[in-house]
Amino acid sequence: MTAIGRLPASLTLVGAGKMGGAMLAGWLEAGLDPRAVTILDPAPSGAIAALCAERGIALNPADPALAAVMVLGIKPQGLEAAAVALSPLVGPGTLVLSILAGKTIADLKARLPGARAVVRAMPNLPASVGRGATGAVASAEVTAEQRAVAEALLSAAGLTEWLDAEAQIDAVTAVSGSGPAYVFLLVEALAEAGVAAGLAPEVAARLARATVTGSGALLEASPEDAAQLRRNVTSPGGTTAAALDVLMREDGLGRLMGEAVAAAKRRAGELSG
Ligand SMILES: NC(=O)c1ccc[n+]([C@@H]2O[C@H](COP(=O)([O-])OP(=O)(O)OC[C@H]3O[C@@H](n4cnc5c(N)ncnc54)[C@H](OP(=O)(O)O)[C@@H]3O)[C@@H](O)[C@H]2O)c1
Repeated sequence: MTAIGRLPASLTLVGAGKMGGAMLAGWLEAGLDPRAVTILDPAPSGAIAALCAERGIALNPADPALAAVMVLGIKPQGLEAAAVALSPLVGPGTLVLSILAGKTIADLKARLPGARAVVRAMPNLPASVGRGATGAVASAEVTAEQRAVAEALLSAAGLTEWLDAEAQIDAVTAVSGSGPAYVFLLVEALAEAGVAAGLAPEVAARLARATVTGSGALLEASPEDAAQLRRNVTSPGGTTAAALDVLMREDGLGRLMGEAVAAAKRRAGELSG
């Protein structure tokens, strides 16, 4: 990946687990100077410790400096305990970028009383391979410069969409946050249907998997939208049309997906409430 905009002059990453570690890998690949990074994580993985030693990244320094940008990658339930040690590192000029599911901007400001500029983001699992989809919302105090920095950091992990209102984060959680699981389920269901249609299980699994990854690659490479790509492979009266007649009937995939996303959004609201 090439440089992607306004990477910060210095950055403190709190929690270098699955998501934090994946974001770090993206930033380094995008050209962030490793010497500009400080990692705070009481029990870093061997891979993170090795990366820090190799690239000169400060890991758990005794006296960490006030953060220009603090990225929170810990588990949401760890915020309260972590905040005690983090609060002195957050000043009025610090940009706090949080990916903590369910933690609102108000929660973050309450736990980190020095925080003014807060960006709350919801990435998804494909961020771990640089192909994420992230929804983000900025508090009123976030400057244009800080927004550009947040966008550069988030975009190292894939697509970033800015939201008008924080309440929309629950919808992002329901669409793209949880969405990878819906796609994995599609692969499972397609493979099972293939077995029912007469294929060996391993053959059906491989065909279903390659169909979804291949269709994703085609969708990405094509200037056409999903509906047009679907029409392109559907000849009137053909086999695909026969299947789509089932999937697109009134109680078909559209209705099911609507119910699924509504359920996920409701649950996201309950968990952050
Ligand atoms: N994974 C996803 O698909 C996904 C998607 C969207 C959002 N998120 C959000 O991303 C966040 C991280 O999730 P994850 O899956 O990456 O979790 P994870 O792999 O458990 O990473 C969290 C890391 O933070 C460390 N940590 C715990 N307490 C800390 C503290 N006080 N100070 C510094 N570091 C601390 C953990 O260390 P220990 O292992 O020792 O506890 C671990 O290395 C969550 O808030 C989640 O809501 C994740």
